[in-house]
Amino acid sequence: MMPDSTLSAHVGADLERRGYCIVENFLDADARAALARECGALHARNQLRPAAVGNVGERHVDARVRGDHTHWFDPLDLTAEQSAYWAPMDALRRALNRRLLLGMEQFETHYALYPPGTRYARHRDRFRDDDSRVLSSVLYLNPGWHDSDGGALRLHLDPAVPDSHLDIYPHDGTLVLFLSADFEHEVLPTGRERLSVAGWFRR
Ligand code: OGA
Ligand code: MN
Repeated sequence: MMPDSTLSAHVGADLERRGYCIVENFLDADARAALARECGALHARNQLRPAAVGNVGERHVDARVRGDHTHWFDPLDLTAEQSAYWAPMDALRRALNRRLLLGMEQFETHYALYPPGTRYARHRDRFRDDDSRVLSSVLYLNPGWHDSDGGALRLHLDPAVPDSHLDIYPHDGTLVLFLSADFEHEVLPTGRERLSVAGWFRR
């Protein structure tokens, strides 16, 4: 991984230029393996929950729309594994605030496990009645992923241009960041279990 200042300069420049950024090799492989193990252990203990769609009042589970199982991090009670991810993400938040004046004050994050055959239909990360999410992030925890495994994050780049999209495969250590308000996106059906940590910086 790059030193903090290089990383935030790279991310900041990409966000300014095109609204999204892809970082390879975020965290070291041991830290990522520890996160993947913790997520797997939570799953084995039945502590991941089917994710809901919709905002307050209309939340419901519909696996045809969204098939992942999640576990939210408690910022007041992070495990060692979670802290190793949280600390550099929080440093990035502060550095991006200084650079881009985004006013991001909070970070919320969860593990996500997509069982084989599941997907997340096209959506935006901002709710209609809540614009607090500024920047979306996903860190993938899947060693040995092949494109034939599917499960790409499809980022829809320009609503004015039909079919202009970018597919990002969930390779271990890939971190994707994008402005929450600007990009519709989806998770294409995955052929194998797909692990990640999703996070949102909020104002
Ligand atoms: C989400 C999401 C994308 C991914 O959790 O809102 O869009 O690649 N995740 O996991
Ligand atoms: Mn999303």
